[in-house]
Amino acid sequence: MTTADIRANYSQVATAYDGKWADVLAVHARAVADRLDLRDARRVAELGCGPGRLLDHLAGLAPQAQVIGSDLTEEMLRRAPARYDRVLGDLQALPFASATLDAAVMPFVLFHVPDLPLALAEIRRILTPGGSFAAVTWSGHDPHSAYDVWVRVIDEHGAPDDPSPQMPSNDVTSDPAKLRTALEAAGFGQVEITVERFRHAPTAAEFLAHSQVVGAMARRINLLPADRRTACLAAAERALAELDPEAFVESGTVLYATARAGDAG
Ligand SMILES: C[S@@+](CC[C@H](N)C(=O)[O-])C[C@H]1O[C@@H](n2cnc3c(N)ncnc32)[C@H](O)[C@@H]1O
Repeated sequence: MTTADIRANYSQVATAYDGKWADVLAVHARAVADRLDLRDARRVAELGCGPGRLLDHLAGLAPQAQVIGSDLTEEMLRRAPARYDRVLGDLQALPFASATLDAAVMPFVLFHVPDLPLALAEIRRILTPGGSFAAVTWSGHDPHSAYDVWVRVIDEHGAPDDPSPQMPSNDVTSDPAKLRTALEAAGFGQVEITVERFRHAPTAAEFLAHSQVVGAMARRINLLPADRRTACLAAAERALAELDPEAFVESGTVLYATARAGDAG
C-alpha cells in the first residue's frame, strides 16, 4: 500500500469524514495541542490537517503565529477554513523550508505514513531547533460488538479482503515504547507519551450509515456486486437491530505524544 492509496481513500471519504470523525477526534487534537506552550510561536502547522478542525484552536494557543494547515489530500484540505494558509503536501517530502516552523501538531495521521522514519525526519527538519511537536494516534481498541456483527455479516456475504489497508505504521505508532524509539531516532528529545481513553457512542443508525462509507468494511462491501451488497446491508440492519445501545460504543486508548526537535545535524 502506497501514499497514493491513502490519498485515493481520503478523496473518496472526505465528505463523510468531515461529517463525523473530524468532530469526534477534535477533542483529542485540542487536548494534545494544549500540552504545548505556543504563546511566543511565530509559525505553527497542523500536519495532516484534513478538514482542519484544530486550526482555530491552534490560532488561540498561538496568537502571534501564522497558522497553516497542510495535507496530502486536496479533497480534505479544501474543507479546512480558508482563513488559514492551506498547503498541499506529503509528510514524507514536506513543502516547507528547513527550520521554519515553531510547532507542528499532527492528530491521527502517524499510523497512515508508509515511511514513518522519513516523515518524522521531515517534521524534525522543518521545525526550528527546540521547536515543538505533538501527535495523537490510535493505540488499543476495546471489544466492539456492533463492529463484530458488521464484520460477520460482510464475511457471510463473501466480500473480498480490504483492498487497501490504511494503517501501515500502526504497529509502531500504537505502542508507546516503539513510538518513543521512533521519535528519538528521528532526532526528537523530551519525548513524553501518555495513554488516554477514547470513547464514541453513535446510535445504531449512525453506525450503519457511516460504516457503509468509511473504513475497511466499507471498502470491502463496496466490492460486492450491487444485489449482494443490498442483501448484505439488509442483513446487517436486521442483525444490528437486535443489539442494545452499549454494543455501538467504540472505545479504547489513544497515545498523546509531545517532543522537542533536537539541534539540526
Ligand atoms: C484521520 S485524518 C486526520 C485529519 C485531522 N488531523 C483530524 O484530526 O481531523 C488523516 C489525514 O491525514 C492525511 N494524510 C495521510 N497520509 C498523509 C501524508 N503522507 N502526508 C500528509 N497528510 C497525510 C489524510 O489525507 C487525512 O486528511
